[in-house]
Amino acid sequence: MEGSEGRCNTVNLEEVINQLINLRGHCENFIEPSNEFCIWKKNVKALEIAINFVKGNRILDACCGSRMFWFDKNNEDTCYMDNRKEEFEIHGKYVNVNPDIVADFRNIPFPDSTFYLVVFDPPHLKWAGPNGIMKAQYGQLNKNTWKDDLAKGFEECMRVLKSNGTLVFKWSDSQINVKEVLKLIPFKPLFGNQRGNTHWMVFMKDQAK
Ligand SMILES: C[S@@+](CC[C@H](N)C(=O)[O-])C[C@H]1O[C@@H](n2cnc3c(N)ncnc32)[C@H](O)[C@@H]1O
Repeated sequence: MEGSEGRCNTVNLEEVINQLINLRGHCENFIEPSNEFCIWKKNVKALEIAINFVKGNRILDACCGSRMFWFDKNNEDTCYMDNRKEEFEIHGKYVNVNPDIVADFRNIPFPDSTFYLVVFDPPHLKWAGPNGIMKAQYGQLNKNTWKDDLAKGFEECMRVLKSNGTLVFKWSDSQINVKEVLKLIPFKPLFGNQRGNTHWMVFMKDQAK
């Protein structure tokens, strides 16, 4: 389509996304990690929101790690988030945590009611060896604040879900029983596996009590 100045008005979405991603990378160079009020952090967050808006992702993986449970590790509908970005080898295993956005599930940088589906697979270990493979792959809970952290994580996942959207929660009972986690939150799962150590549970936002 021709505009009044004879320029093409058609927007190439891929190009816009790439430009936003480049801009975000550029802004990241100016972040001062020691300054929690650094204005560039806000700029990066704003760009992340813009990227997501333009991409129109419908799914959020709120703590993607190395995306081990994904059949398609680059699903186009999904925004992959984690609070770290790192790549290393440990005890012969390659760990690659490369999220689309680096953010904290206790403060998810997206507006309310953004996603149709959120998957929440937080760390489940209070104790893990400092140089162990488990910590490298799955992260670790803070021994003092884990209850508040998980409760806040659930609250944030629900906030960014659209009404009637689905939350899938994954948990391993190895150190903390799933019942203890469910006591922390005001939501009830609809269904999930009730035997075994690994739990997949499904919640719906705004479900009838
Ligand atoms: C159990 S692992 C996720 C594994 C992942 N689902 C997979 O398939 O590989 C938990 C992840 O949560 C991340 N994490 C820990 N605390 C977080 C936080 N506050 N916000 C976002 N991600 C966090 C860890 O870095 C770790 O990669």
